[in-house]
Amino acid sequence: MITMNNFHFKYAGSDCFALQNINLTIKEGEFVGVIGNSGAGKSTLTYAINGVIPHHYHGDFYGDVSVDGMSTVEVTPEQLSACVGSVFQDIDGQMVASVVEDELLFGLENFGFVREEITQRIDDALATMGIADLRYRSICTLSGGQKQKVALAAILALKPRILVLDEPTGELDPQSSGQIFTMLRELNQTYGITVVVVEQKIMLLCEYVKRLIVMGEGSILLDGEVHEVLEHSKEMEAVGIHIPRVATLANLLIDKGLYLGRLPRNLDEAEAMVREVMA
Ligand SMILES: Nc1ncnc2c1ncn2[C@@H]1O[C@H](COP(=O)(O)OP(=O)(O)O)[C@@H](O)[C@H]1O
Ligand SMILES: [Mg+2]
Repeated sequence: MITMNNFHFKYAGSDCFALQNINLTIKEGEFVGVIGNSGAGKSTLTYAINGVIPHHYHGDFYGDVSVDGMSTVEVTPEQLSACVGSVFQDIDGQMVASVVEDELLFGLENFGFVREEITQRIDDALATMGIADLRYRSICTLSGGQKQKVALAAILALKPRILVLDEPTGELDPQSSGQIFTMLRELNQTYGITVVVVEQKIMLLCEYVKRLIVMGEGSILLDGEVHEVLEHSKEMEAVGIHIPRVATLANLLIDKGLYLGRLPRNLDEAEAMVREVMA
């Protein structure tokens, strides 16, 4: 679905590469989290998937990036956006309308759908996000969490096969953050949408995503199933990512030879681990 081969990118006017030697394959239906400190290249990676690079941001582009079999350099941004839906880090900058319904309408009209199809898609997208009641609300009166849901609904209405989100919970409290991730998991599981989400909160990623990519200084440092990646706690700490305490505890127990199982991803799994060790 998404492949990058020896991909390097340097923004025009910058003297260092924002991304270097990226080799990545994401298959259809995967749910992938991306973490890394500020400036690691996470947003740049999302731009490479949705075609913002090279179509909006120019620079030195080496290697190949293809999405759904299309080389992103060769296709138009319109062709790509029929397949990839993006939620950007700056959510307010992404909103184009002042009323929720119009926000959804805008994208659909751009794609030239007929009236009935548009109405149906708006109904469905609002229902999927559980925000049918916000339909006629003015966007500037919404909370951060509600805006995130509107942005997601506007993207979902276009029925993308890939969803790329850049820190969608950045401004949200833990409860709304969990709701967004629950929604993403549902979209991934129910509709098979491939999800790539940049997120700073490691606990959320551990709880929801299957595969975790750790970035640092423009490179992919670690990439694998969440449990596997958490075993590399020292590498993660070295780039300032603090793995969940339950994973630290598990690594300590493993070092002492007291535990041989998988690393816990959440409190429930940690409880099971502790019970096993005590027994
Ligand atoms: N529009 C831009 N022009 C020039 N350099 C940029 C631009 N956007 C990001 N960069 C640089 O690229 C690197 C990666 O940035 P970014 O992808 O935004 O990282 P992250 O999202 O992980 O914080 C940083 O060194 C940043 O300064
Ligand atoms: Mg960023």
